[in-house]
Amino acid sequence: MEQNLKNNIILVGFMGCGKSTLGKELAIKFSMDFVDMDGLIEKQEKKSITQIFRDHGEGYFRELETKLLHSFKNQKNLVISTGGGTPCFNDNMTIINSLGQSVYIDLPPKVLRNRLQHEKSVRPLIAELSSDELLSFIEHKLEERLPFYQKSTVVFDPQSEDLPAL
Ligand code: S3P
Repeated sequence: MEQNLKNNIILVGFMGCGKSTLGKELAIKFSMDFVDMDGLIEKQEKKSITQIFRDHGEGYFRELETKLLHSFKNQKNLVISTGGGTPCFNDNMTIINSLGQSVYIDLPPKVLRNRLQHEKSVRPLIAELSSDELLSFIEHKLEERLPFYQKSTVVFDPQSEDLPAL
């Protein structure tokens, strides 16, 4: 398919669903620029996500996410990897959908748990959880977040499709 160059692609979904990996693939496929919101925020604040949560709290981090989304408004040709919570605060899905095509990467809790098990330490919301606690955290959080994720224009199931139908 022919990607409209004026549109960006914004990837949303739970921690560990593969937003960055898919984002890099799509950026190569469509000759677009890949940007990772967590990475940009860390660079801008000169602190890791863990340090930002610890020093300033989650509310501050959520404000940074919203400001960053606004800063994409005049940009095009971007594949944007959001943070897992980005769509769920400050009416961010409205901003996201104004930026281009949003893609929700849909994976079940057990798959997410298995993927996140060894990558917990860089994610302050789950860093301290045991394997069982992690699964129940994902189940509850995902249920809470689904209504936001489902506002995406495309739903992509990595378990049955190679790439989203854009
Ligand atoms: C978060 C997800 C993380 C990061 C922060 C909070 C969340 O991004 O933004 O730790 O609330 O789900 P990833 O989805 O890239 O792990």
